[in-house]
Amino acid sequence: MNLDAYIRDIPDFPKPGIVFKDITPLLLDPAALDAAVQALAAWARPLEVDLVVAAEARGFILGGALARELGVGFVPARKPGKLPGETVSAEYILEYGVDALEMHADALEGGARVLLHDDLLATGGTARALVDLVQGRGAVVAGFGFLVELAFLEGRSKLDGIDVQTLIAYS
Ligand code: PRP
Ligand code: ADE
Repeated sequence: MNLDAYIRDIPDFPKPGIVFKDITPLLLDPAALDAAVQALAAWARPLEVDLVVAAEARGFILGGALARELGVGFVPARKPGKLPGETVSAEYILEYGVDALEMHADALEGGARVLLHDDLLATGGTARALVDLVQGRGAVVAGFGFLVELAFLEGRSKLDGIDVQTLIAYS
């Protein structure tokens, strides 16, 4: 299935000059949604992970489905101030701003094999923060699966040594 056909360009959102890749048409279509989850799961299954960790907010959508498909648990990495327990945190710079992600400090057992997921790889700041959070808890990043990659922003350069999979890439 050509998943690219389900991604919509929205020019000048959320700021002038940014072409926003809107994944909601893909989420709306049951066959495309299933194809995306199955494709990421087929890639991730051999990695034999214990958990999926995904970034708020859009990473939660396929991240939860992926965890269910792989038969493993799910750990949310959330925007600041949202998690009730003790947290660890990593800041990052976005294509259009600055933000941080937090994870419960006790979410990962030492040595857990983790699959990371986010909907989209742009500059790689969010992804790098997620890798740092997980590795900082002594867990192993087995792979990082994305739906969309904006390859021209070279986010992969921040993920050297990580097994990265993207289903749709724009160059
Ligand atoms: C978007 C996207 C990724 C991130 C990618 O999230 O979902 O998490 O940007 O950009 P980067 O590679 O330059 O870091 P956003 O912060 O817009 O939040 P949202 O998921 O809550 O919409
Ligand atoms: N996150 C960062 N850059 C983005 C873009 N161009 N489209 C959608 N999500 C994004």
